[in-house]
Amino acid sequence: MKYNDMHVTLRQLEAFTAVANHLSFTRAAEQLNLSQPAVSMQIKQLESQLGQALFEQMGKKIHLTEAGSDVRKFARSILQQVDDMETALTSLSGLERGTLSISVATTAHYFAPKLLKIFCERYPGVNVKLDVTNREQLVSQLENNIVDMVIMGRPPENVDVESGAFMENPLVLIAPADHAFTREKSIQLKRLANEVFLVREVGSGTRKAMELFFAQHNIPMIMGMEVSSDEAIKRSVQAGLGLGIMSRDAIQNELQLNLLSAPDVLHFPIMRHWYVMHRKGKRLSPIAQAFKDFLLQEAAGILTKEPTLRDAAQAQTPQMPALKAPLPSSTESKYAPARPKYVLTGPDGQPIPPAPRK
Ligand code: PGA
Repeated sequence: MKYNDMHVTLRQLEAFTAVANHLSFTRAAEQLNLSQPAVSMQIKQLESQLGQALFEQMGKKIHLTEAGSDVRKFARSILQQVDDMETALTSLSGLERGTLSISVATTAHYFAPKLLKIFCERYPGVNVKLDVTNREQLVSQLENNIVDMVIMGRPPENVDVESGAFMENPLVLIAPADHAFTREKSIQLKRLANEVFLVREVGSGTRKAMELFFAQHNIPMIMGMEVSSDEAIKRSVQAGLGLGIMSRDAIQNELQLNLLSAPDVLHFPIMRHWYVMHRKGKRLSPIAQAFKDFLLQEAAGILTKEPTLRDAAQAQTPQMPALKAPLPSSTESKYAPARPKYVLTGPDGQPIPPAPRK
């Protein structure tokens, strides 16, 4: 008999297993909450589907035939598999288990792991796939709907997405720690026209923002090396190959260790935002939805409280406004963006009380 011609049902296997376990139609019917004729009917239909007798009657007792013994093993394992499938789907529909597949802009990898650590502690059954790539690749991933969501600097114009801003992303000027600019305040923007700039590859969101900024302020940009990694740009700036413009999130360590400086140039920082986004209409899994909510509601608070993260950059860029400007509301998102609170913290992570009034 071909598989397609067989119409064995789970109900028949269930009835068969109950009879085989009790070797009694009456007790099987009790267990299944069915009438005895209904159970007998299921067994008859199963025997006719399989073309074999599964039970034989000897006196008052029934016994499994050899075929019945074989079918019992398979029936058990089939019913167990169905049970497992139900359990798996139930847990997938909750937050106990599941895969979160996210892609983040190269620059966002400086803060994404910190957030993922907290999220994974909260949902230990979650398996995370994290891809780090540039803006152009992220837009293509969004277009092809191959990840749950994406974190990047600005929603794309040509893909229909649902997006929400969750944190400010100021881009600062970076220079070697001993650059002459570090001894000055409120440097005129036009002086940047004499500097060489290291730029990210075409396709990078940071590069796009940088080019736009120079064009908007009508400052010619002398382009030096094109470098496809933030890390390599930082090392190149340190080595004196030119200046750079980079997300403040990417240079925390270098500022703290005094390997780089973020000079006080007028019109800086270039204020951008970090967005979480996915294709419009995408059905997010519960875990993906939980991560999106976590970003929108908690990420800014978590990262701005981190003493080693934003404080170092804040200290080096005194002209930078504290994070008090409201985030832009996304036209696409139904979520209200999180409003970060800027809390100054000491080395012990505790908030520093305001100085006493004189
Ligand atoms: P980038 O990302 O790493 O492509 O420069 C930042 C962004 O999306 O703006």
